Amino acid sequence: VIRSVVLGCGAYLPERVLTNEELARTVDTSDEWIVQRTGIRERHIAADGEFTSHLATKAAQAALDNAGLTADQIDLIVLATSTPDHTFPATAVQVQAALGMTHGVAFDLQAVCSGFVFAVATADNYLRAGSAKRALVIGAETFSRILDWNDRGTCVLFGDGAGAIVLEAQEGWGTSADRGVLTTHLRSDGRHKHKLYVDGGPSSTQTVGHLRMEGKEVFKHAVGMITGVIVDAFNASGTSADNVDWFVPHQANKRIIDASAQKLHIAPEKVVMTVDRHGNTSAASIPLALCTAVQDGRIQKGHLVLLEAMGGGFTWGAALLRW
Ligand code: ACO
Repeated sequence: VIRSVVLGCGAYLPERVLTNEELARTVDTSDEWIVQRTGIRERHIAADGEFTSHLATKAAQAALDNAGLTADQIDLIVLATSTPDHTFPATAVQVQAALGMTHGVAFDLQAVCSGFVFAVATADNYLRAGSAKRALVIGAETFSRILDWNDRGTCVLFGDGAGAIVLEAQEGWGTSADRGVLTTHLRSDGRHKHKLYVDGGPSSTQTVGHLRMEGKEVFKHAVGMITGVIVDAFNASGTSADNVDWFVPHQANKRIIDASAQKLHIAPEKVVMTVDRHGNTSAASIPLALCTAVQDGRIQKGHLVLLEAMGGGFTWGAALLRW
């Protein structure tokens, strides 16, 4: 059986850190309100002239270094983003060029905050089908560029950043005790468009637009959708919450993460939480959290890692992988 095995991971955060206290000087909010409702204390913001492709390239290079590989050994790049450098070409192709790759294939994938889980599922299917041998799976965002900085209900929630993993198709794995991606489950439901969307776009308004959200509505749906798709992943792989070593959820909001873990009976010590320092970085949040926990020694080879995300669309999904 062919499995997509993780060879390495990498992350990049822009230098500039924006704290809640700084935000409270420009919009009517407070550190206390933001921390209590979301768990967020600070977020990173890309510099002028620093684009999504720049963040993605740095994360991708770090993942390659971590895997001990060079770009010429990669033949697939799947980049999840909702904040591409341009309408086209795809940001993934810019990353491909920046890495010096002139072979293989690179494309973007758009599933908002669920983008990284969708990208892992896509790359895993390419690798297991024999369509590629080694993939860079990247989540990269500059949400600071699509925020309405006068809307205190949304501008306090998001940040910029990028993370990446390298997956390799390896034969000879089979059981749930073996390394690699064990299962992925994706869902979407377009009826929820207006609960979380950007009010611009090339075809509709010919503007970039700003993020709009009915926060309470998103919150109301999130935990049920997240836990439902995770149970599907458990059932498909013959595992359960008891077997999970690390829960690495999309980092939108501490309250959503805590409620999801509690409902699944996953102990708080097993939850990787970076939302306090990164804010919600959309498709980048899971690989950023993964890298944090790998670098500090929590996630180790052989550990069972559960990924989960939910976002605009709505889109949602879960992946189980043995690191
Ligand atoms: N600072 C101070 N007050 C604020 C702020 C702020 N930054 N934002 C809103 N308020 C006010 C509102 O105006 C409102 O005031 P009012 O009662 O006078 O009208 C009051 O706080 C309550 O507002 P609500 O929107 O009802 O606050 P709620 O408790 O729902 O918290 C939040 C808002 C944090 C956005 C919450 O709904 C939430 O976390 N939703 C989930 C959305 C999310 O995480 N989305 C991320 C993208 S999707 C994803 O990644 C899963």
